[in-house]
Amino acid sequence: MKLLTSLCLALSVLLVGGMAFAQQSDVQQQQERRLVQPGNNAPVWREVRKEAQEHTTTVRGRETGVLVQSAGQTWRQIRNGPVTFYGGWLVVLAVLIIAAFYFARGSIKLHERPTGRLILRFGTAEQVVHWTSAISFCVLGLSGLTLLFGKYVLLPVIGYLLFGWLTALAKNLHNFVAPLFILSVVVMIVMWLRDNLPRAYDFQWFRKSWAFMMHGEHVPSGRFNAGEKVWFWLGVIGLSIAVSWSGVILLFPNFDQTRAVMQEAWIWHASAALIYIAIALGHIYMGTIGVEGAYGNMRTGYTDETWAKEHHQIWLDETKSGRTAPGGAVPAGAPHMKEKS
Ligand code: HEM
Repeated sequence: MKLLTSLCLALSVLLVGGMAFAQQSDVQQQQERRLVQPGNNAPVWREVRKEAQEHTTTVRGRETGVLVQSAGQTWRQIRNGPVTFYGGWLVVLAVLIIAAFYFARGSIKLHERPTGRLILRFGTAEQVVHWTSAISFCVLGLSGLTLLFGKYVLLPVIGYLLFGWLTALAKNLHNFVAPLFILSVVVMIVMWLRDNLPRAYDFQWFRKSWAFMMHGEHVPSGRFNAGEKVWFWLGVIGLSIAVSWSGVILLFPNFDQTRAVMQEAWIWHASAALIYIAIALGHIYMGTIGVEGAYGNMRTGYTDETWAKEHHQIWLDETKSGRTAPGGAVPAGAPHMKEKS
């Protein structure tokens, strides 16, 4: 028994002595570093981040005792590594595929001549909501890309002064335009949900989508075709929820969320946003130069009967049977579908 007690005592003395020695050597290292490399006291910072536990502070709040959160370095590596690399290439690839498609195929043109009889396709409220989300999306996309890739693409070209000014502008635009985008997308979802519900004839569209894209084959569909419905459910609903939810966590850090939550939210936000931009480029292409007449539909609200027949036959039939008000004569501001002589 006596022997055991003596052994324990000796062990404790050794342990305490070892710790004291380690602490002393830490202190010694810190003091030495202050002399040889003033302003770079790495031993102090190593000590601060050595333990996962919180240190003592008089500042109240979650994590206020964690001076250096080491996972921040992991987040930085993920940001500047895979997210920037794969995300950047995804957007470049989307641009290349769209450009290759356009040069190989050209835009999808009408087979027959426009009749000059116009049909109301989008009401004023629908146009306002659509263009609000479209413009705010472009502002968010461009400012976000500037913040993520600017230091690789813009900084070497425009220099630090202009780049500093531009990124400050991008950050503020991003923060203040985001709520407008979220609001417009919520309204858009409510407004177009019914027209985007899946129908049996959508499967037909999927089966013939290649023929439609390559040869402009006529596939009857409702107000929105199956491709547009995928954009609606995957992009407008799915990706909007992902970017908005993670974005709000980043936009309002005053709800006491931890740094780990912010880091995770950033990874979700940037990844979802880059996928969203890549898919949206496809939508923007189809809505401008990809499909003849589409842009004018959203700009003026009216479409020609020929366009409706060739792209949305079922919707045209429903409209003609009186469920939606037809436009009648060509209204001012809708010249894109005037009968060509
Ligand atoms: C500069 C950007 C954009 C342009 C030029 C554009 C263009 C268009 C056009 C021309 C249409 C009407 C197509 C038709 O008559 O069927 C349309 C529809 C639509 N847009 Fe956009 N759009 C843009 C951005 C956006 C954004 C950012 C969103 C969502 C966040 C969006 C969501 C929709 C939806 C849900 C529809 C109805 C379904 C569809 O046609 O895909 N658009 N867009």
